[in-house]
Amino acid sequence: MRQMIAGNWKMHGVTASASALARGIRDGAQDLGCDLLVCPPFTQIAPVAQILAGSAVAVGGQDCHMAEQGAHTGDISAAMLRNSGASWVILGHSERRQNHGETSEMVREKVLAAVKAGLTPIVCVGETEEQRAEGQEAETVGWQIAGSLPKPFTGVIAYEPVWAIGTGRTCAGPDVAAMHAFIRAELLRQFGPAGGQVRILYGGSVKPGNAAGLLALPEVGGALVGGASLDAADFLAIARAAAPADR
Ligand code: PGA
Repeated sequence: MRQMIAGNWKMHGVTASASALARGIRDGAQDLGCDLLVCPPFTQIAPVAQILAGSAVAVGGQDCHMAEQGAHTGDISAAMLRNSGASWVILGHSERRQNHGETSEMVREKVLAAVKAGLTPIVCVGETEEQRAEGQEAETVGWQIAGSLPKPFTGVIAYEPVWAIGTGRTCAGPDVAAMHAFIRAELLRQFGPAGGQVRILYGGSVKPGNAAGLLALPEVGGALVGGASLDAADFLAIARAAAPADR
């Protein structure tokens, strides 16, 4: 399976900067041998989707509401994302779980809403520093998978240790490999053979300098990139480090 390199722009980008970034990525995105995705803030999805139309780069949102429509001030539905040109959506990012009180049950409902609207979800899981210090990383991620994914699940998982996000500290290779092996085993246990088809991305301070090592690890199906996705050259360098589909 081809690896996926996804950029999470978080709360960065107004028209000039987001358009320039999208053009920079588009112009270097040919024949990279991996799937490319950018997830701009809501207000930039439509203009970025227009710039990337017909290119090798897909567009996604960073969250959506679980309801189809209604009295939810400030929220955005999955259908609105789709209508703006998105085909993917990141759900359950740790910044949503921590800063907006999102539970795995809420994430699960959002996944169902996203799929119903024709979006492919990227569901984020990952332990905090305290949970890893107490040896509870596998238990935490196992519960997040069990709670956040509906059956059947047609989407992607991103393993993002919370302590590695935006900190410059990446998870050590053997720890990434161990967690991805654990997630694969959990997916097979919970979903049967279909669990073998789910791509598992790694996220947390992925940069051009460490991407090749992380992407070469077994069961790593790509990367979810935050900070380094805001620079077209860095994002494309990470994409060039993707492992070949037939490895
Ligand atoms: P980072 O963010 O690459 O800046 O650590 C990753 C993410 O939050 O998806």
